[in-house]
Amino acid sequence: MSIAKKQYKRITVKSLVEMKANGEKISMLTAYDYTMAKILDNAGLDVLLVGDSASNVMAGHETTLPITLDQMIYHASGVVRAIERSLVVVDLPFGSYQSDPKEALRSAIRIMKESGGHAIKLEGGSEIKESIKRILNAGIPVMGHLGLTPQSIYKFGTYTVRAKEEEEAQKLMEDALLLERLGCFAIVLEKVPAKLAEKVAKSLTIPVIGIGAGNGVDGQVLVTHDMIGMTHEFHPRFLRRYLDLFADMTKAFEQYVSDVKSKDFPNENEQY
Ligand code: KIV
Repeated sequence: MSIAKKQYKRITVKSLVEMKANGEKISMLTAYDYTMAKILDNAGLDVLLVGDSASNVMAGHETTLPITLDQMIYHASGVVRAIERSLVVVDLPFGSYQSDPKEALRSAIRIMKESGGHAIKLEGGSEIKESIKRILNAGIPVMGHLGLTPQSIYKFGTYTVRAKEEEEAQKLMEDALLLERLGCFAIVLEKVPAKLAEKVAKSLTIPVIGIGAGNGVDGQVLVTHDMIGMTHEFHPRFLRRYLDLFADMTKAFEQYVSDVKSKDFPNENEQY
């Protein structure tokens, strides 16, 4: 059992800031449905992220752009129904907050009201400052997301490491400081050099949770389906696979097909 599982009955945004202050790393994984969320919550995950990566993982889209607010609310509702302890953070999807602060607030309110999630996450820094302020003013906790921001993939052109050059690294640091000043409770840093990520984490009192950002940050997040090997086409350097479920599940399904075809299943004990 994790230290946090013993110490905290229910994770709040305050517990995460406390964990950072105490030097305890934060564990976060994605969840898009009730059954997986139940397992993750029971395993002691501090944060479950209903990521817009559901667009890739659950719906098979090439990018995160197509997923809608209604679909995010559907995924998040199942996750919220499963949890007893973890904090549930829900991504605001592409197109639900970029046009103006009022639209951003309306989208965030829909997520909180209709899914029961505990906080929202959105991508970007100074460009979306007014939207973040408006959401925070309504009492909704906000997690930032800097570095590789997949909703802007067509601007970047590739999924390669961000902020390797000084100018971009400096902008990232300024944005991180801004997000803290505005009142965000945590920041995700995706695919940036480990040294820069560590520097950002050390400059902030709010937790920095990394994905492909090294070990000098305050916590780690991965896409669950990648770390348990259900997906198998994706091999970034930062991904540690804890299981090979694609292979194991394929074996089980093949066995089932064979058992049905050979009339081995069901046997006498498996019928009424
Ligand atoms: O949508 C997502 O899964 C994310 C993580 C990769 C941080 O934003």
